[in-house]
This record gives sequence, C-alpha cells and structure tokens, in this order.
Amino acid sequence: MDLDLNAIRAAARLLETGKLVAMPTETVYGLAADAGNPDAVAAIFAAKGRPSNHPVIVHVARDADLSRWASAVPDEARRLIDAFWPGPLTLILPRAANVPAAVTGGQDSVGLRCPSHPVAQALLKEFRGGQGGIAAPSANRFGRVSPTTAQHVIDEFGAPGAGPLAAVLDGGQSDVGIESTIVDLTRLDTRGPVMLRPGRISAAQVEQVLGRALAAPDTAAPRVSGSLDAHYAPHTPVALVESAELEDVVARLRAAGRRIALMHWSDAADAPLSAQLPADPDGYAHGLYVSLRALDTQGADLIVVEQPPQDSRWQGVNDRLRRAAFDSAGVLEKLLG
Ligand code: TXA
Ligand code: MG
Repeated sequence: MDLDLNAIRAAARLLETGKLVAMPTETVYGLAADAGNPDAVAAIFAAKGRPSNHPVIVHVARDADLSRWASAVPDEARRLIDAFWPGPLTLILPRAANVPAAVTGGQDSVGLRCPSHPVAQALLKEFRGGQGGIAAPSANRFGRVSPTTAQHVIDEFGAPGAGPLAAVLDGGQSDVGIESTIVDLTRLDTRGPVMLRPGRISAAQVEQVLGRALAAPDTAAPRVSGSLDAHYAPHTPVALVESAELEDVVARLRAAGRRIALMHWSDAADAPLSAQLPADPDGYAHGLYVSLRALDTQGADLIVVEQPPQDSRWQGVNDRLRRAAFDSAGVLEKLLG
C-alpha cells in the first residue's frame, strides 16, 4: 500500500494540538488522541460515550522508551514484545507515575501496544518525534461493533470536520479484524500472567513464549470494557445457533413471519439475506465486523449466526460472537413466540 505521508504528517500535527484522528491498525480502527494530553483523552470518552473509568490503550512506536508509560517492564513483557511486536498484542503493565489518570481510568496499570499497520507505524514515528504515545480505543460508539474500514468510522462519527474527528486516515480494511489479545502482567507474583481478552495471538502462542500457563480473568483483574457481557453488539438482535439446529430454527422463524439475516460459515446453511464467512478462524475474524455491520443495515428482525467450531483456535471469534449475541436465548424465545 502507498503511504500518504502528507496526510500522515497532517494527522500527527492535529494530534499534537489535541485533536482526535481516526487511525487504521491491523486489528480495528482506533479513535486516536495524544495520550500525554488529558483534555484530548477526555474528548475520546465524550465522542464514544464511554464511561470515564474505562482505561484506554496507549500505542507506541517500535523503539519507544516504555519507561515513559510503565514503571516496570518485567522479563515476561520483554519476551512477549520480542515475539509479537509490532502486532496485535496489548500488555498491561504497572503504570509510570506521570501517565494521565484519563488514560488509565484511575487504575495503577497501563495498556501498551505497538501496532504493525504501516499507517499506524508511520503516524507513531511522525507524532512527537516517535517518542509520544497515542491513546486509541476502537473507533466506535460505546458497546458497538468495532470499525475495520475508514467508512465504518465515518458511519459512526461523521466525516472529518462534521463531527468529533479532525481527520480520518484510510488504511484499507484491517487485516486481523478483531481487537488485540490483551495479557495482564501486573500480578506475575501472585496470580501469574492473565489473558484478559483473546485475539489473533492465541493463549497457546503466549504460553509458548512465556513457558507457563495463562490464568483466566478474575474479579480483581483490571477493568476491560470489552469484557462486559453486552459488547460488540449491532443494533439488530443477534442469536447464536448451532449448525445442527440452524435449518430448523430458520424455518421456525420464517414460519413466525420473521425477517432474518444469516451469517454462516458452513456450506450447508443459506438464506436469501446472508453472508458467508470463511471456515478458518483468521479468515472469519477478518470478515466478521464487516459482515455484522452489513447485515445490521438490512432491516432484519434478527441476525442468526451459525456457531463456529468451539476449539481454541476460534477463541477470539467466539468471544466476540458471545457478546454480540448476549441475549441469544431471550431473543429467540421472543421472536418464535
Ligand atoms: O486492537 C485493539 O486493541 C484496538 C486498536 C485500536 O488498537 N483497541 C481497542 O481498544 O480495542 P478498546 O479501548 O476498544 O479496548 C481496549 C481494552 C479495553 O477493554 C480496556 O478496558 C482495556 O483494553 N485496557 C486498556 N488499558 C487497560 C489497563 N490499564 N488495564 C486493564 N485494561 C485495560
Ligand atoms: Mg472497543
């Protein structure tokens, strides 16, 4: 892809003056602001409608000095950084004293990630001479489906200048398609490394590098808004249905006069209003949010999603689907009723 360096430089200058910019990353698009500027970070929360006690990830350049953000970078973090940065992995570390509370949601920790998308890399290099941090949650309204194209961002927030965004950098469709894997390294001595959010980089890959098992999140784990039960949800209700039951459920919904949209991966299923996703987890993740957003605009009563396989390679995808379909049983009962 050709980099539009003029647009990237202009975006860096806008960030330096406290403005909001949409930034492509390999996972999803981010709503970016200067992480060192509390007013700019507050503008992110206002634009998203996000509660102010939710922390945001700080994105850094490849050679950034992490001590500006983290008070300690344990050996475990170094090993994961060597293995997976730049890339779709966020590390939660103890925060440095001068990190604005707006970034950490008032917690003792900070989330750091070095994205691999060439536009994000160029922007980070250009912004504050490569030594700044860019705070960026996914560029969607709170609780909604993350954007994986520049058009999705404009659909959420309006065109640059017409809403909260000063610029939208277009980096094409995000390759990974779901948000980064998040690993908490703030409680290594007590609980061990903890997987807070699954993603393209799997638990097994992280465990392989660390040489130890990951713990599951517990109630003392730092807050992650992506871990709320209802998250990543389209406006249309979503129901997750096992492949074996799909035909029957679709037939009953039709008989009840319901207009349904179907998202499937196996060839067996089909419907007039449908999207078929690849039968492999990376390909499925890549197309997931594009398909959910497209089906969401069809005026259907319900989006029926064929449950993907449950093995660990599908963990990131299944996590997002479970949250999008948080009231699956209730929705089906109502619409079949
Ligand atoms: O792939 C991604 O991670 C994308 C792109 C733009 O980088 N960003 C993203 O941001 O998904 P967001 O804010 O939508 O989700 C980041 C998650 C949130 O659930 C937040 O609570 C968590 O990371 N997080 C950030 N800082 C944290 C911290 N200090 N402790 C615990 N969780 C943290
Ligand atoms: Mg998000």
